[in-house]
Amino acid sequence: MHTELRYGRIKYLSFLLLDLVCLVLSNFASLSLYIGSKDISYNFIDHYSVVIAMIVIDVAVTFAFSTLRRVLRWRKRREIYESARHIFFCFIILGLFLFLTKTGAGYSRAVVLLAYIFDYVLICGGRTAWRFILSRCRKKPDTPTALLMTTDRFVDEGIERLKEINLDVQYLFLLKNINKKEIEGIPVAKDVEEVASIICWKEIDKVYIYGLDHQMVPDYLRNACKEMKLSFDLVDFNYRVIDITTIRNNDPKYGALSFLESKRDIPFPIRRVYWITETEADLHRGFHAHKLNCQLLYCPYGVIDIILDDGVNKTTVTLDRPSKGLILMPGLWREMVWRQSGSVLCVLASEYYDASEYIRDYDKFIAYSKKYREVSVKSGEEKKRSRKIEEVIA
Ligand code: TYD
Repeated sequence: MHTELRYGRIKYLSFLLLDLVCLVLSNFASLSLYIGSKDISYNFIDHYSVVIAMIVIDVAVTFAFSTLRRVLRWRKRREIYESARHIFFCFIILGLFLFLTKTGAGYSRAVVLLAYIFDYVLICGGRTAWRFILSRCRKKPDTPTALLMTTDRFVDEGIERLKEINLDVQYLFLLKNINKKEIEGIPVAKDVEEVASIICWKEIDKVYIYGLDHQMVPDYLRNACKEMKLSFDLVDFNYRVIDITTIRNNDPKYGALSFLESKRDIPFPIRRVYWITETEADLHRGFHAHKLNCQLLYCPYGVIDIILDDGVNKTTVTLDRPSKGLILMPGLWREMVWRQSGSVLCVLASEYYDASEYIRDYDKFIAYSKKYREVSVKSGEEKKRSRKIEEVIA
């Protein structure tokens, strides 16, 4: 891991040096052109001091605006835009230097202008070529590589799931860190900065989050992925039946005590809790899906069938004891059937009530689920889903 990080820095440094070489070359090219056309004696001391000023400004701009960061990831258009921005800032600062200092006053501005035009062309060409050479030197792995963000609870399952869709998990990031350096030989990033650095420098093909609510992933990570044109996907389970920890006393008269703990048992923040009581047997409710809302359902008293439909498969989960919970992720059509009068349904929800986030029309739900069933990979009998997180949020 540490060697890898150093390798990352070397890459960073190599681009920095490349920029400086471009700058020096462009200066000499512009100077020889200027002297060639004017054929006048030129004050080389002035020239060197301006070149040194240009180098200092270039390095300062590079660090201040991080223009080299993520350079390996950028596509050509982005590269051109970033180089232009870099040169623009250098130019403004150098302009001030030329106009405000004595050295600057005696220096030909035409040379500087020419130098920057050359510099721009060289930087764009040089970086693109260097990036190409580096990518050719890299040993391409057989399977696409992924960074997996998950919680310690879902880590094994997440790795398995990504393997099933033929992705090689190279790095892990546990949103609730458990201070492990690696799990099953896969390095664990210790904080979001390290994740950002992995995204920047490693050849990660995809970033996945597994079994989590999108709100646990920091916005800037999502933006970093977007900026680097890395797809940021949510590979989650549609639903999950969980055992709710239940404590019983030796003396049956004490009954049972069940509890759920935020983050440990519930993979999303809770914004709303509601429950349905005073029901009659054979009551049917629900008939909707959520676009955003994640829920945890449990039935502390009675028996309730939850019929789930992901647009392809239907399944029924029966909540028939207080120690059984059901986590439902967005995009599932559900119908609840009360099998026993007085049964109580309790729901922990990740979102405040928002009628616009419901899909209540089944045809619309089918169209919606089709749209978001981006990659369906056969695994056993089950079809896996992967949704573009930005689209889900939108
Ligand atoms: P609804 O979602 O239709 O219940 P179900 O799908 O189980 O049949 O909700 C019934 C009514 O309650 C509806 O008018 C919206 C309102 N409601 C809230 O105001 N806040 C809430 O948190 C919930 C769940 C419902």
